[in-house]
Amino acid sequence: MSRSAHPAGPRHADVLPEGHYSAPPADLNALDHKVWAQTVGRGADGVVTVGGVDVKTLAEEHGTPAYILDEADFRARARAWRTAFGADADVFYAGKAFLSRAVVRWLHEEGLNLDVCSGGELATALSAGMPAERIAFHGNNKSQDEIRRAIEAGVGRIVLDSFQEIVRVAHIAQSLGTRQKVQIRITVGVEAHTHEFIATAHEDQKFGIPLAGGQAAEAVRRALQLDGLELIGIHSHIGSQIFDMSGFEVAAHRVVGLLKDIRDEHGVELPEVDLGGGLGIAYTSDDDPREPHEIAKALTEIVTRECEAAKLRTPRISVEPGRAIVGPTAFTLYEVGTVKPLDGLRTYVSVDGGMSDNIRTALYDAEYSVALVSRASSAEPMLARVVGKHCESGDIVVKDAFLPADLAPGDLIAVPATGAYCRSMASNYNHVLRPPVVAVKDGEARVIVRRETEEDLLRLDVG
Ligand code: LLP
Repeated sequence: MSRSAHPAGPRHADVLPEGHYSAPPADLNALDHKVWAQTVGRGADGVVTVGGVDVKTLAEEHGTPAYILDEADFRARARAWRTAFGADADVFYAGKAFLSRAVVRWLHEEGLNLDVCSGGELATALSAGMPAERIAFHGNNKSQDEIRRAIEAGVGRIVLDSFQEIVRVAHIAQSLGTRQKVQIRITVGVEAHTHEFIATAHEDQKFGIPLAGGQAAEAVRRALQLDGLELIGIHSHIGSQIFDMSGFEVAAHRVVGLLKDIRDEHGVELPEVDLGGGLGIAYTSDDDPREPHEIAKALTEIVTRECEAAKLRTPRISVEPGRAIVGPTAFTLYEVGTVKPLDGLRTYVSVDGGMSDNIRTALYDAEYSVALVSRASSAEPMLARVVGKHCESGDIVVKDAFLPADLAPGDLIAVPATGAYCRSMASNYNHVLRPPVVAVKDGEARVIVRRETEEDLLRLDVG
């Protein structure tokens, strides 16, 4: 094991052995709504539609590849989280999953708050009219300039991530003649069962201040002493793409333990607890995510129970789902360029995008599903690997998938559940242009992030 590896291995959820793939689905034309956005369906002509618009029209008008986002589904999921947590809790959408000005406006309209983690995300939020007091500012190394801008804008909270930052934020707030509401992000020592790169609460990683060794208690001590800070709560985020609630249970237990120690030492009951995001979604039909109301019930019960046991007033809970809101609402629409059967192995299907629009397969060994969407087919299933157009053999979008054996260049295929961490992690590798995000609703398609152009690339290259 390498020195930097997660103690439980690079990916310590249940992992299928290399080369494993499940049997072909009974019906290759079926679209499982666990992984496809809610308004997706296949018309009588076999063409897939979303929000009342068919994918051939979308490809003609907007080109491929393109991220196609179901606005009604996004709003419904945002609302479901908001309703599930009710008036006594706050839902902060994690902008890192995907952020644009249209998304900010939808969130605002649906009553959600917003978690940003950079000056760029803050600027996007503010420019689309998100009230600053509904913004939380995160990050393990916020610059002085970012901190100043956040305080000047009046953000509702800054989540402090290190001892240096406690002093830095206090100093800047004081110099601006204000007192900034803050939470302290602690690492509770929980091993989230997910990929090591997206697990965040075990001790050997960069985020937060460890509970272990009294460090979190010391951070609280310092924050309470500084005039520029108003400490409103404790924050814990244990990782991403988590299905098992037991990690949250342990985290909540430890966070409440700290709240109790704070009460005993300082006579202060902090009014808020943030349990972060990280709730998993279905990327394939084998995944079984929980509904927001189940998650809300479980988290609220855990915190209430722990607080009753510690004789503490139950704090206001907040959560920060990103993927669970936007992930399932979009698919990536690609055109097939080449179909290359490799005897005895599999068929390589090349599309007009790749690791520049979805790095998750290469980076996390993520699994995705895929379907032929421009027509129905009754051909036999063939084992396929969907690859991109980049100069790299690791440029894989879907590692193992079944597609109809009559798949041909010019067909449109789509990869569902690409709403989160695909456009937001897209790159210009090989000077490939980043695809647009097209929002579809009630029979209308609207570009919310336009396709990058070669002029965009050349504008940055000052020659
Ligand atoms: N809150 C905090 C403090 C976070 O760091 C994150 C994610 C979230 C909330 C939202 O987590 P979500 O509900 O979206 O899982 N690029 C990786 C995911 C990195 C997540 C980083 N932090 C991926 O593609 O899986």
